[in-house]
Amino acid sequence: MDNFQFCTPTKVHFGKGSLDKLHDEVVAIGKKVLLVYGGQSIKRSGLYDQVKAKLSDCEVFDLAGVEPNPRVTSVRAGAKICKEQGIDVVLAVGGGSVLDCSKAICAAACYDGDAWEQVLDWNKVTKALPLVTVLTLAATGSEFDAAAVISNLDTDEKLALIHPLLYPRVSILDPELTYSVPANQTAAGSADMMSHIFEQYFASSTNLISDGICETVLRTVIACAPRAIANPDDYDARAQLMWASSLACNGICSLGNGVMPWPCHAMEHELSAYYDITHGVGLAILTPHLMRFSLNEKTVERYCHYGKAVFDLLEEDDRMAMANKAIAKTEEFFAKIGLPKSLSELGLEISDERIADMAKHALEHNQAFHLCMEPMTLEDIKQVFKNAI
Ligand code: NZQ
Ligand code: ZN
Repeated sequence: MDNFQFCTPTKVHFGKGSLDKLHDEVVAIGKKVLLVYGGQSIKRSGLYDQVKAKLSDCEVFDLAGVEPNPRVTSVRAGAKICKEQGIDVVLAVGGGSVLDCSKAICAAACYDGDAWEQVLDWNKVTKALPLVTVLTLAATGSEFDAAAVISNLDTDEKLALIHPLLYPRVSILDPELTYSVPANQTAAGSADMMSHIFEQYFASSTNLISDGICETVLRTVIACAPRAIANPDDYDARAQLMWASSLACNGICSLGNGVMPWPCHAMEHELSAYYDITHGVGLAILTPHLMRFSLNEKTVERYCHYGKAVFDLLEEDDRMAMANKAIAKTEEFFAKIGLPKSLSELGLEISDERIADMAKHALEHNQAFHLCMEPMTLEDIKQVFKNAI
């Protein structure tokens, strides 16, 4: 097991009614608040009015309309308000896109240059405003990690900004706030959580503790996602998905295992940069193809272990057959929760030229493809994209 440092400085209020903590947590930081949210979902659910009522003694400025796959233009708009109004605390109410945009706003509000410069060079983050989050969609883990993923339409780039100063100060996780999440977003969020685990589980180095955490999170998502889709108000299913989301992406699932290359995310971010698709949908489509790419004599036991631990597959003498069953089970699960199987199903027509561009960018932005369980070259990345069409 490798040496590691671990610190998640985010205070979590989890459970029914935890929104009641919002006022005290916010005013403990300050009373000039930038409230960041997305489209209409928090207005439709009544959450917007609840938040406003709870902060009635604060001066609240709104930044509305943060896009799924949040744009750097929204970050710039938020940072401008923070600078002009002397904001004390940023409050993100929404899904991962709203949280990510808010994190980048927190950093850009304390920076003299342009927000995109910080995405390109994380060393330019030296200070950040404090962030409080109210999560409304279980998926990305942004509520419990230090990452933000920001899109730039001018350059067709979607890149991560990761910095310890970007951990939320406080995250309010009330599973009831996810009752209104539609089936397709519940499914996409579940695929995202599973992918976060796969990125850490199918890796060159693992240990028994990390395996146990990963397998439990996977089993939890597989058990709870269909329940939440069938019955959106199933508190227990929504609650377990919400906590799975937070655990899956904050690093705790791979402590001691060294560098994690995250190939599926690097490739999916190219798809959503060019085609603005839902992140979890792109991941679900790519995942089985990446798994099949990396299955060989060297990795076959890992896939058999996964099939047994996560899907209760019985041991087989034919190890390749068992490993392929484990991958097929993964694919079947995504289909069962209504996720598409191919990029063509999304109506995308992707030229060879575009595939070459995406593969090149993925390799440039993520320089760890050679550290994957089965190392990946530029040609391999292109082939996996092609197989996913
Ligand atoms: O915009 P509104 O109206 O709020 O609607 C949103 C949006 O249309 C809706 N929604 C959210 N909560 C809802 C709801 N609808 C009804 N009821 C609710 N309670 O769902 C739609 C999708 O929201 P979004 O925030 O985009 O989804 P998600 O949480 O999956 O976030 C995706 C973004 O996070 C990035 C992705 O790349 C993508 O840009 N990621 C962030 C990570 C991180 N910070 O660590 C890691 C991930 O791997 C990922 O890359
Ligand atoms: Zn993800």
